[in-house]
Amino acid sequence: MDRIEALCRYLYPCDRFADVGCDHGYCTEYMLENSMCQSAVISDISAKSLAKAEKLLEKYLKHGTCVSVCCNGLEKIPADCDEVLIAGMGGEEIISILENGFIPGKFVFQPMKNAPKLREYLISVGAHIDKDDVFECDGKFYFVITGFRTGEKNEYTPEQIKFGKGDIGGALGRYLAAEAAKKRAYLNGQLRPSDREKISGELKIIESVSENESR
Ligand SMILES: C[S@@+](CC[C@H](N)C(=O)[O-])C[C@H]1O[C@@H](n2cnc3c(N)ncnc32)[C@H](O)[C@@H]1O
Repeated sequence: MDRIEALCRYLYPCDRFADVGCDHGYCTEYMLENSMCQSAVISDISAKSLAKAEKLLEKYLKHGTCVSVCCNGLEKIPADCDEVLIAGMGGEEIISILENGFIPGKFVFQPMKNAPKLREYLISVGAHIDKDDVFECDGKFYFVITGFRTGEKNEYTPEQIKFGKGDIGGALGRYLAAEAAKKRAYLNGQLRPSDREKISGELKIIESVSENESR
């Protein structure tokens, strides 16, 4: 299974779907082909990237079930889009898009880095996190955070802020094992004392999460 296929399993059915930073547009194609939405908006800050999605989704654009907007973040995303996907960008970039826009009714975010910052931000604005998972494709791990603009307040431990709430018996467990192996490899090499201390601390946290969660 590739990243897009894995990511699409987290999308919610909705009325009007928006794919912000869509690039090729594969996720929107999935939503439309599988009747997961009535209509869709593809958007990207780069006209060149957007052109790829426009080509892929030509029949839907002609039919009017999909519209294309070239814009920064949520700038020109119509207000009636009830689900927004932002995938393949850094967590800080996603936060900046939300700060300059709005928290979507339903959201699916797949940050490439800084997932803890994104979790903290979503909690701070009162959004409800529904799933906070990690999935694995071709030996790489990806965090995915889905939820709603409003809802029950989430409780997170500091460890869950760091690693999410995935299944320790599944991809999260494999992610932690891979991270622990990387840290142990660093510790076997030459390191400045301050770096050694930092990496040892990080390894201890990973080991304690793996042990506590698998009990
Ligand atoms: C790595 S691609 C990810 C594409 C797709 N979402 C995915 O997950 O495969 C990132 C895309 O986001 C676009 N992008 C970056 N910053 C953006 C912003 N502020 N607003 C809209 N699009 C943005 C880039 O032009 C690029 O096409």
